This record gives sequence, C-alpha cells and structure tokens, in this order.
Amino acid sequence: MERVIGIDLGTTNSCVAIVEDGVPTVIPNRGGYKTTPSMVAVTEAGKRLVGHIAKRQAITNAENTVYAAKRLIGRKWSSPQVKNAVLTASYKIIEGPHGDVRIQLRDKTYSVPEISAMVLQEMKVCAEDYLSEPVSKAVVTVPAYFNDTQRQATKDAGQIAGLDVIRIVNEPTAAALAYGFGKTMEKTIAVFDLGGGTFDISVLEIGAGGVFKVIATAGDTFLGGEDFDARIIDWLVQGFKDQHGVDLRQDRMALQRLKDAAEKAKCELSTVTETEINLPFIISSGRNEALHLQRVLTRSTLESLCEDLVERCIEICKQTLEDARLDRDEVEDVVLVGGMTRMPRVQDSVKEFFGREPSKGVHPDEVVALGAAVQGSALVDETKQMILLDVTPHALGIMTFGSNFEELIPQNTTVPTARSKIFTTSRDRQTAVKILVMQGEHQKATENELLGEFILTGLRSAPKGQVEIEVTFEINSDGIVSVSAKDLENGQQQSIQVTASSGLTKEEVGRMMEDAKEYMVERQSSDEFEGLKQEAEKLIGDIERMFPQVEQIVASSDFGRDAIGKARGIVEKARAAIVKRDSAAVKEHMESLARTHRMFKGVVSRPHG
Ligand SMILES: Nc1ncnc2c1ncn2[C@@H]1O[C@H](COP(=O)(O)OP(=O)(O)OP(=O)(O)O)[C@@H](O)[C@H]1O
Ligand SMILES: [Mg+2]
Repeated sequence: MERVIGIDLGTTNSCVAIVEDGVPTVIPNRGGYKTTPSMVAVTEAGKRLVGHIAKRQAITNAENTVYAAKRLIGRKWSSPQVKNAVLTASYKIIEGPHGDVRIQLRDKTYSVPEISAMVLQEMKVCAEDYLSEPVSKAVVTVPAYFNDTQRQATKDAGQIAGLDVIRIVNEPTAAALAYGFGKTMEKTIAVFDLGGGTFDISVLEIGAGGVFKVIATAGDTFLGGEDFDARIIDWLVQGFKDQHGVDLRQDRMALQRLKDAAEKAKCELSTVTETEINLPFIISSGRNEALHLQRVLTRSTLESLCEDLVERCIEICKQTLEDARLDRDEVEDVVLVGGMTRMPRVQDSVKEFFGREPSKGVHPDEVVALGAAVQGSALVDETKQMILLDVTPHALGIMTFGSNFEELIPQNTTVPTARSKIFTTSRDRQTAVKILVMQGEHQKATENELLGEFILTGLRSAPKGQVEIEVTFEINSDGIVSVSAKDLENGQQQSIQVTASSGLTKEEVGRMMEDAKEYMVERQSSDEFEGLKQEAEKLIGDIERMFPQVEQIVASSDFGRDAIGKARGIVEKARAAIVKRDSAAVKEHMESLARTHRMFKGVVSRPHG
C-alpha cells in the first residue's frame, strides 16, 4: 500500500509524520529535530537554504530570508494584512501579476506558494530519507479558518513541491484525530490552537466507532505568536527611541535581531518571571558611536502588552460555543495545541473560560502532523474505521443588488456540501450572466472575500426571464469551492469563466513545478557530489601522506619512479575534478585513486630493509 505522509505546514515550524505499523510517528529531520523552521533563504552564492540552516543565518542575511510566509499565502496584495507585512517584514514583499503577493529574494521573485513548496519539499525529503523510498502522497493541514483562496494556494504549494495532496485537513481537526486515535470514547472536546501565525478553535464530538464530527469552528488567521513578538518589538523600539532618539526600524539587520530577541524573551517568560534583553552594538548613533540595547522585560509587562491578543482568542471561543449551541460545562475536555499555549497567561485564560484544567495528553508541536498522518493512512486503507465530518468555517454566497451578500451555504455546514440557485435573465437576448462568489460572515458583500467572478456565457437567446440557469455551488472535503451551471430547459451545461482570482494560473503552477524539480535534481546531485568529494578527499589525503615514504622505498627503480609519476597525475586530475565540481569526472578517477591507495598501503606496510 502506498504510504501517505502527514504534513503540518506551520507559520513558524513544520512537522511531518507517518503511521508506521499502526502507530502515528513524527519523522525527525536530518538534524534530528522533530520540527523544522518554516524559513527559506537564498545565500549570496544563490544557494537555497530551508529550515534550521535558513534560521541560523537569518540575522546576517535578513533581506533574503523569508519567515511566516503562511501569513501571506492566498492573500491579495491590497489586503490590510499584506500592507502590514510589507511595513514590518525584513524581506521584500511586492505586488504580483494577479493582484497577488510575490517575494523578492536577491534577483528572483517567488510566489508565496513557491516559498511554501520549498518547505514542503524539505519535509518530503525528510520522509524519503527516513523511509528510504520515494513519497508522493500527502495530507497537508491548514488553519480551520482558512478561506478557499488560502486552501487553494496551499494545494498549489503541494503540487509545486511534487506532492499529490490527497486531502487538506483543518489543523484543530487533525489534532482531535491524534487525540482520539486508538481510544474508544464518546466525548465533546474543544481544540484551542494558538500557533505562530494563526488562532483556531474547534468544537468536536468524538463518537463511538471512530466518528469525529466537528460542530463549530472559528478563528483568526492573523493572530498568533508573531503578534506577541511584534508587541515586544514595538516596546523595545519605542524605549530605544525615547532613550537615544534613534529608530531601530530603519535597519533590517537590527530589526531581525530584535525579532529574535523578542521571541526568545517571550518563550523564557513562560517559565521565569523576568528576563533581560541584551543586544550589544545594535546600531550606530548619528555620531558614529555604537549603541547597545539592554532592557528587563517582566512577565507582567509582557502580559499587559499582549492582553488584548489573549482576549481576542477568548472572545472567539465564546462565539464558537454559541454557534455550537453548547454551554461551557458541556465541553468535557480542552486540548491545547500550538507553541503559544505554553504561555501561562494563555493557559490561565483558557482554564478560566472553560472552567476546567486543559488536557495535558498531547504534544502541542507534534499533534497536528500526527493527526494528518492518521487521516492519510485512513484515506488509503479501507480497513481503518474512521469517519471525519468537518465543517466549512465561512459562509459561501453571492453578491446581489446593492452590494448585499446572499448566503447560500451557512458557516459550520458539514462538508462536502452543495447548494443550487436558479438565475434568470433580466434582459431580452441576454447571453451572459456575471456572478460574484464570496466567502465571509458580513451582510455587506464588499466586506467579504471575493473568491472569483464567474461569467456564464453562451446562454440561449430568448426574451428576458425565459432562460433559467441553475448554478450549483459546491464545497468539497478540502473546503475548496467549485461552481457549475446548467440551463434548466435543455439541461445543457454552461461554461464558466473565472476571473478576478488571485490564485496562480495552471501554466504558472506548471512552470514552478519544473523549477522545483530542477532544484531537486541539483540538490540530489549536489548531495551526491558532496559524498563523492568526501570520499575522494580522504583517499587523496592518505595518498599524499604516504608519498615521502613510498618515494624513499621505490625511487631506486625505473618502475617505481614511473609508478610515482602516475600516482601524482591521478591525484592532480582528481583534484581538478573536485574543483570543477564535476561528479562524473570524480567518479571516473575514484577507481584509480583507490588502486593507488591500495598500492601505497602495500608498499609502506611491507617490511623493507
Ligand atoms: N515556551 C513558549 N512560550 C511562549 N511561546 C512559545 C513557547 N514555545 C514556542 N512558542 C511560540 O509558539 C509559536 C510557534 O508555535 P507553533 O510551532 O505551534 O506554530 P505554527 O504551527 O508554526 O503556526 P500556525 O499553526 O499558526 O501556522 C511561536 O510564536 C513561538 O514563539
Ligand atoms: Mg500550528
């Protein structure tokens, strides 16, 4: 049976897991870590770095290191979130050709799905190294509150990475799957997931026979650890300005150091009540003297800086319970997911709100990937008894006269689902109808997310009101929307043209896939080359060390001098091939190197007298 990996593509960290012999297991990366920073960088030499190595060089290469790309995926250039990111990110965010977002790294621009694909590709390689076999199928998780565009963009990222994303699963739902895996229980639980970039809350019923039914979900895709860090950065920048009259924001490297220090302080304050932030030589003053930043941050200051952020999470919990028509005490267990739930203030607020101690049974960093792996294995193995019923986080509807939003599929409807609506022509001989499809909770259509403009074309030419078109709006199990239409009188399918979508075109995805493949070939051959190089250099080193001794022993004969000359030639050629990074040539010389090595060994180990 084909193996399916589960990937938690996080804002800050990503994690990959698989079900092995019936047990969901996290796959460690090459460095032995169970999570990989979702960071991508391009070095001065044009080399791509992903994960820990990208993070380690972030300060010295701030402009060419991308973090938190997930906050930009599937967003429009004109959105307030992107405007905010343009001002605060240390890397360059520019407008793409579809009103989408692109990221500039050195001399190349990348779409956001391409950046996410680099992280996915890294996770794929981790799994392949671990399993010693190629992997092509994956279940990828997204925040429950992601809309259609964000989900579609995540799927594109999977495709670019060479993965067949067989299902998109909501992160809190995945966490619940891992939580309930292998246990028999009937329980109503809440999953509270506060990660690096997003907040999600889901209320689920876990039933006998492996049924997981989501009752309600909500969240905020721009509320997470990054915002807590930003509050600390603001506090540091303001304090520094007051003290020295210098704005640290002008300097990208200083900003990256501040970001690093802010996150570190925040994490420390989860276990201690006070910490010192110390950044020597952070910037130079106008008068050419180096300035240092040194401040003490207490837990209570941090809590007051971030009070409203925690409150926003609790407000959303309140709303979700109302939507689920449940009282707080009907929730029998609260599962905490995401690194930010280690913050004592967050834990306390959750405990206070739900009136119970949150569950400690799951690992907050790994549970989402584990759940994705569980879902992946259930999708390919029919003997697995598991039924997952998720809901759509946003209402789906269309724009009608006066910019009103007409809801067709309400929020929290179980997916997959479909609704139809009849449209009639309003003019004589009208041959086209334009439909604006939107997602969101606002009465006013313009406040919601425009998914696409669909134009029904080629309608029958008839007097007004006589052509009735049935349009069907569908949301599949991935939470992805599709629209189809047919003429009710003759049953003819109508063609639909999609415009105004900020997603990538098929051609673009295809081209990006090719680029990604090319990179993998390069990477594989560079991995292969590194291995060969090491082997060859070891042999060369050994041979060179033996030269003086061998010369002494054999130089008296013509045959010996000839052998030494040949050996020098072989070493030189192998060296040149290494310098040229020519794998094929190094391979070619390997055999001669090994032969020379054996011969030298034989000469020096023989007793001579
Ligand atoms: N001990 C800690 N105290 C406070 N915050 C922490 C701690 N450990 C990690 N974090 C924060 O948790 C966040 C990362 O959490 P996590 O890895 O769950 O996010 P993610 O899955 O990458 O993001 P998302 O789910 O939002 O896409 C970061 O902001 C990090 O600073
Ligand atoms: Mg997460």
